[in-house]
Amino acid sequence: MNFNFKHEWIETNIGLMAVLTMLAISVGGLVEIAPLFFIDKTIEKVDGVRPYTPLELRGRDIYQREGCYLCHSQMIRPFRDEKLRYGHYSLAAESQYDHPFQWGSKRTGPDLARVGGKYSNEWHVQHLTAPRSMVPESVMPNYPWLKATPLDISDITDRMKALRKVGVPYSLTDAEYKANVAKFGETVAKELHIPNAQQSLIEQANFGNYDGDRSGISEMDALVAYLQVLGTMVDFSKYKDDAFINDR
Ligand code: HEC
Repeated sequence: MNFNFKHEWIETNIGLMAVLTMLAISVGGLVEIAPLFFIDKTIEKVDGVRPYTPLELRGRDIYQREGCYLCHSQMIRPFRDEKLRYGHYSLAAESQYDHPFQWGSKRTGPDLARVGGKYSNEWHVQHLTAPRSMVPESVMPNYPWLKATPLDISDITDRMKALRKVGVPYSLTDAEYKANVAKFGETVAKELHIPNAQQSLIEQANFGNYDGDRSGISEMDALVAYLQVLGTMVDFSKYKDDAFINDR
C-alpha cells in the first residue's frame, strides 16, 4: 500500500484534514486531562512531605529570582538511567506545596530534585560563589553576591500568607496550628505558624549556620537551606520499590 499517496490525499482534502486534526487533538487532550479529574488518586499518599520552613521558602524565592530553573530541572523521570543517576523518581506529592513548581524544562546542569544532603554546606557556598573552583569544566555562573547580601526577612509573613491563599497549609489561627500539629508534628507545625515566622527563620539560620558565618543571615543561608532540603522529605527506605507506579 502506498502511504505517501494517502498522506497527500488527506492533506489536500481540507475538510477531512480538519476532522482528523480535531480527532488527534481530542484524543491527546483527553489522555492528558482526564486523569486530573481523579487528582486524589494521581497524588500518591506518602509521609513526610511538608511545606517549606520560612528560611527554606526565602531560599526558594532566591532560586527563582536567580533563574536557577533555566539550567536545572527538579523532576526525576521514571526511567532507569535517571533513577541510577539521581535517585528515586519524583512523586507528585513531593511538589504539592510548590507554587509555582520548579520542574523546569532544561538541563544544562544536573537535576536538583534530590540534591539535598549530597554535598556539605561548605561545598554549596564555595560552588555557588565560584563554581569553577569546585568543578573546573562548569559553565554555571558565579553568584558572589549571595553571601554578601543580607537576607530581607521583613516580608516573610506576607509571602507565607500569599502561599496560604493557594492552599499551602501555613497556619494563622490556633485551630489551623492544631491541625498542623496533628498532621506534621509539633516541631514542624511551629515552623509553619505565620506569627512565628521571623523568629523561626532566625533560629533555623543561626542553628544551621548554612553559609558558615554567624554574624548575620545572608541570602546564601537561605538558598543553601533550600538546596539541602530538596528531595529529603520522603524516606524511601520505608517503601517497597514497587510501592508507586511500576518501575520501568
Ligand atoms: C547557565 C546554566 C546554569 C545556571 C543558571 C545555574 N546552574 Fe547550577 N549547574 C550548572 C552546571 C552546568 C552544573 C554542573 C557543573 C557544576 O557542578 O558546576 C551545575 C551544578 C549545580 C549543582 C551541583 C549539582 C550536582 O548534583 O552535582 C548545584 C547544587 C547547582 N548547580 C545549583 C544552582 C543554583 C542554586 C543556581 C541558581 C543560583 C544554579 N545552579 C544556576 C549550570 C547552571
